[in-house]
Amino acid sequence: MTKRLDPQEGYSRFASTYDENEKYWDSFEKNHLKEYFEASKDKKVLDAGAGTGRLTMKLFSAGADVTALDFSPDMLEKLQKKNPDIKTVEGDVENMPFEDDQFDFVFSSLTLVHLKKIIPFLDECYRVLKDEGKLILVNVHYRRPMLLEDEKGKYTIKCHNHFPRHVREAAEELAYNIEEEIIVTEGDDVWVSQILILRK
Ligand SMILES: C[S@@+](CC[C@H](N)C(=O)[O-])C[C@H]1O[C@@H](n2cnc3c(N)ncnc32)[C@H](O)[C@@H]1O
Repeated sequence: MTKRLDPQEGYSRFASTYDENEKYWDSFEKNHLKEYFEASKDKKVLDAGAGTGRLTMKLFSAGADVTALDFSPDMLEKLQKKNPDIKTVEGDVENMPFEDDQFDFVFSSLTLVHLKKIIPFLDECYRVLKDEGKLILVNVHYRRPMLLEDEKGKYTIKCHNHFPRHVREAAEELAYNIEEEIIVTEGDDVWVSQILILRK
């Protein structure tokens, strides 16, 4: 029997093998984030839903003052093993443990798909961004949940696909300025990811 797990429990089980799929995770971004990694040099940056640090490590290498936020201690532990100097914070992206107006950039990839609602997360990102700060958001579309397996059995992690139009509308409702939107598609024109650059 396959269990459908909440993200916190799911990622605690997935943490040990998550990095084996790094190329697959990268494929949702198709190198579109590179210029924003470069722009993050010497900036205060948050990686929201950082996981094992796929983006955090790139930001750190680019010279950003980066903080990794995630509610899975097991995912963050993997990140800390890669580089113990990187700041990690355990917490919820919908209720962030940070003061207002802290960050020049918030990056968030592959995390919105695990949240039921769009607005509370976008609202939190807006709150912690400085004026003119930018949210670099990667919203993915999982056509079917990934079937995972470990010694405890088969499981999937709960997902909520959010259509690009709904994310755009939520961003506009919160008074973000939409600087850029890239829709990555597959051969048959089905969207696989939406990359949004939102300015406060
Ligand atoms: C698919 S992983 C993405 C990790 C990393 N951003 C990447 O692109 O490789 C999703 C991450 O979001 C985290 N996550 C999901 N919901 C969260 C929430 N409400 N608060 C904090 N982290 C959350 C999970 O623990 C997991 O580490």
